[in-house]
Amino acid sequence: MPALGFGTWQLHDEAAADAVTAALTAGYRLIDTSGSYGNVAEVGAAVGGSSVAREDIFLVTKVESDEDPVESLRRQLGEMKLDRVDLTLIHWPPGVMGSAHEAHPADPHDRAGVHLWQGLIRAREQGMTTDIGVSNYNAELIDVLVDATDEVPAVDQVEWSPFGHSMRFREYLRSREIALQAYSPLAQYHKLDHPVLQKIAQAHGKTPGQVVLRWDFQLGVVPLPRSGSVEHIKENFGIFDFELSDEEMGKITGLNEEFSVIADKHGLGGLIYL
Ligand SMILES: NC(=O)c1ccc[n+]([C@@H]2O[C@H](COP(=O)([O-])OP(=O)(O)OC[C@H]3O[C@@H](n4cnc5c(N)ncnc54)[C@H](OP(=O)(O)O)[C@@H]3O)[C@@H](O)[C@H]2O)c1
Repeated sequence: MPALGFGTWQLHDEAAADAVTAALTAGYRLIDTSGSYGNVAEVGAAVGGSSVAREDIFLVTKVESDEDPVESLRRQLGEMKLDRVDLTLIHWPPGVMGSAHEAHPADPHDRAGVHLWQGLIRAREQGMTTDIGVSNYNAELIDVLVDATDEVPAVDQVEWSPFGHSMRFREYLRSREIALQAYSPLAQYHKLDHPVLQKIAQAHGKTPGQVVLRWDFQLGVVPLPRSGSVEHIKENFGIFDFELSDEEMGKITGLNEEFSVIADKHGLGGLIYL
């Protein structure tokens, strides 16, 4: 899996296709979308029509907890005009988000979405997705999936930024050999004017956003910054020509205050994997 990805949430129509094309031109090789973003047709067209070979692009999508994973992927692939994606994630565990709004299920198997996981295993067997994983899952829910199916998710995609993360959770994922993808890695640019980030950025002749994405890279976390601006898209890819010292890494990690943009937006009460 590439070390840096491109997020496409809230990018629609031509803007979505143009942003993905700009990202591929800038050098990104991982593109993240979801059946729920309303842009899989445009993202698929940009990936399928790119001068970058399809096998060099790592395309990620997601299915919702109130969907049949096989049906959802079949529909998405039809809209994308592609025959497979590289990774498909369960977007949210059941009962947390999405259109179903079902009460928090009491049974651990239902809470973890074991039926969804089994559906994704079937989708992989049918060749629709090369790999499968989860998003917004905590350790307890992942353990339930693995105990029930013997199948370990390849990835957990969770909210992760200097202002909101958990090194303990990262350790848990490492112990299971699950890759961590970081969504809202720039905290949607809300807090990047923090003096600690500004100072480190200045020392390297970089921007605070580049410093944050480099921090992810040195942690072995795969960030998925999103941007609709070609300048920002290029800027965010410029993280491979400098290195943060251990002291700088520690200072950035020390900014943690368990802040979550997504929890704020959806009333979830904090980082969901804690
Ligand atoms: N699995 C999940 O549940 C989940 C949830 C949320 C997000 N995600 C994924 O993660 C991706 C990223 O998360 P996100 O979109 O919430 O937030 P983000 O990447 O942290 O921030 C995006 C915001 O930052 C701005 N920005 C980006 N680069 C910039 C730069 N260099 N300078 C100034 N502003 C900059 C963008 O504006 P401009 O467009 O103006 O650059 C945009 O408003 C999503 O697109 C999606 O693919 C997944």
